Amino acid sequence: MLISENAHAKINLTLDILGKRPDGYHELRTVYQSLALCDTLRFLPSPDGSITLGCDVPGIPLSDDNLAIRAARMLGSHYGVTKGVHIELVKRIPMAAGLAGGSSDAAAALRGLVRFWQLPHEKDVLNALAARLGSDVPFCLAGGTAIGTGRGEQVTALPSCPHFYVVLSNPGFAVSTAEVYQAYRVKENKMHPDTDGLVRAIINTDQKGIMGRLANVLESATFMLYPAVSKLKERMAGEGASLMCGSGPTVFALFKNQQQAGRLVDSLQAEGAAAWLTETYAGDDKGVNTDV
Ligand code: C5P
Repeated sequence: MLISENAHAKINLTLDILGKRPDGYHELRTVYQSLALCDTLRFLPSPDGSITLGCDVPGIPLSDDNLAIRAARMLGSHYGVTKGVHIELVKRIPMAAGLAGGSSDAAAALRGLVRFWQLPHEKDVLNALAARLGSDVPFCLAGGTAIGTGRGEQVTALPSCPHFYVVLSNPGFAVSTAEVYQAYRVKENKMHPDTDGLVRAIINTDQKGIMGRLANVLESATFMLYPAVSKLKERMAGEGASLMCGSGPTVFALFKNQQQAGRLVDSLQAEGAAAWLTETYAGDDKGVNTDV
């Protein structure tokens, strides 16, 4: 039996910063949403008891710099596992793009290895390890639609967001999350997303209300550092409701209509931009993706 896990990308429908914390992190209030776009991790026995990673895409760190490897080591040492594992990663989510690809790989490694090493499914342990790995990792463990508070690591599930087609486009360079947060000026920010209104719109399956409330306060910092991201957002705003993903540089646009979304992808690609068509993902395949 081959054990595999999908690691879904995420977007933030709203991202608000409430202040700077004594530990240097920023206090967040954000609505996370999973996307169908995903990486896949396959878990294979390791003949010598080591923990190793292979990937179909060059340029991905395969050592301890990779969050999936760090997740495996942390989980293994927590439970005293001696068996090892070889993880094969099929990479589809662009890297350092604001889509939580690395965080989601780490979360999928935790979920998959609980099954592969036949460990007890202790939610609190997994959440605590996930929070140590990164602020987005606890959300990626559960997926779906949720509110994130604290550093983003305190996750409360919401009812599923109504379905949207999602166009992603990326200006083709990586952005450092730490650099964007550093450039962000808490005191200068007067704009706060209507997070409560967005949550109401999700509960009421009000697609127009959701599209009208997309907001991310980190846009000001990323746009200042990388004006190309601001241009990309303007280009996409002409077609659907658009917003920067996380700390950037990917921008997403929401559509009710698949043809309209497809046309935007085609025209972005014709202009030479990287663009993907995906959709919102409610989190249904959690834990049942075991291939025989
Ligand atoms: O938690 P994670 O490792 O993903 O965060 C990457 C960087 O982003 C942190 O080192 C920090 O500089 C910044 N960050 C922040 N406040 C948050 C989340 C991340 O300042 N809530």
